[in-house]
Amino acid sequence: MAKDREALPMKIPQHVAIIMDGNGRWALSRSLPRLAGHRAGTENLRRVIEACVELGVQYLTLYAFSTENWGRPVEEVRGLMRILEDVIDREMAELHKNGVQLRHIGELDRIKPSLKKKVLEAIEMTKDNTRLVLNVAFNYGGRDEIVFAIRNMIEDGVSAEDVTFDLVNRYLFTAGSPDPDLIIRTSGELRGSNFLIWQGAYAEWYFTPIFWPDFGKDELKTAIEEYSQRNRRFGQVNKKK
Ligand code: FPP
Repeated sequence: MAKDREALPMKIPQHVAIIMDGNGRWALSRSLPRLAGHRAGTENLRRVIEACVELGVQYLTLYAFSTENWGRPVEEVRGLMRILEDVIDREMAELHKNGVQLRHIGELDRIKPSLKKKVLEAIEMTKDNTRLVLNVAFNYGGRDEIVFAIRNMIEDGVSAEDVTFDLVNRYLFTAGSPDPDLIIRTSGELRGSNFLIWQGAYAEWYFTPIFWPDFGKDELKTAIEEYSQRNRRFGQVNKKK
């Protein structure tokens, strides 16, 4: 049976999105501070991005900081901001070399101006890369995103009859990215936590008890193998062969 599965070609999702959960528990289980878990989670980014490039995933969206995460202890929030800055300083040149295009989803306004500038510069530097689009959700919330889109539509004078699925898509932070095919959540939590609530309407979900810092290339492959076995019907029925 396992052999048969191996023999089948894997169906690679065009867009994978990940809720990178469990950094805190990973650290706790090693008697380390929570920020050490976030650092370990950051080390893991490289492995998973590389695996996506190798497998031919075209869009990867990572939930790095939610609008609700501002409620965490101030030291942890500061640490997560520093981590974003470090990732840009240390990893962007390599990501750029490997054809990764960085995009941001969320609101950058609450982030300190120097960090915002770095994010915008990295986006500009990589804008013509085509190997992998990496959407980083930072200060992102799905409900916020929808409110933001409605406000902008009203400001632009969009009339009621012009509001379509396609138009809404164009007003979301993810404009230009296809809907996620596969959403992965690590650490055993079984909820969506305000992530891509519009875009994920027909995504396949994959939950694993593994904490994010331990979710490497093999785990990603396992998730994609399981995705390959799913029968996506988008609310319809299978077409007769
Ligand atoms: C959830 O674990 C993880 C986060 C809130 C932060 C994720 C951030 C990174 C992996 C690093 C930054 C990434 C980028 C792309 C710059 P948790 O703290 O909720 O874990 P717990 O549920 O075990 O406490």
